[in-house]
Amino acid sequence: MLPPDSPYDGFADTFAREAAVSPYNARYGRPTVLGLLGDVSGLRVLDAGCGPGLYLSELAARGAEAVGIDQSADMVRLARERLGPLAHI
Ligand SMILES: C[S@@+](CC[C@H](N)C(=O)[O-])C[C@H]1O[C@@H](n2cnc3c(N)ncnc32)[C@H](O)[C@@H]1O
Repeated sequence: MLPPDSPYDGFADTFAREAAVSPYNARYGRPTVLGLLGDVSGLRVLDAGCGPGLYLSELAARGAEAVGIDQSADMVRLARERLGPLAHI
């Protein structure tokens, strides 16, 4: 049985492009959330609704084992492309 379509399928590339650089996401949202998380080095961190993996790549760069799940197949594809061999998605 195939999973249901996600509203984010077909919109994933646009979201990834915008969220990577938009001031709200790149300069406010991600820095704030990552700051609240503190030191994640050596931790296994689940990103539920990981989207295109923008948080996953930041978490991996900080030494976490970053695990992502997402209901959108297009988002999962983008996250895997972004993380490469570090992907646990
Ligand atoms: C607004 S995007 C945010 C993506 C990422 N957290 C970020 O901030 O860059 C929301 C994501 O949550 C996913 N999502 C929404 N409901 C979900 C669910 N019930 N299970 C898994 N993923 C879900 C969507 O597919 C989408 O990729």
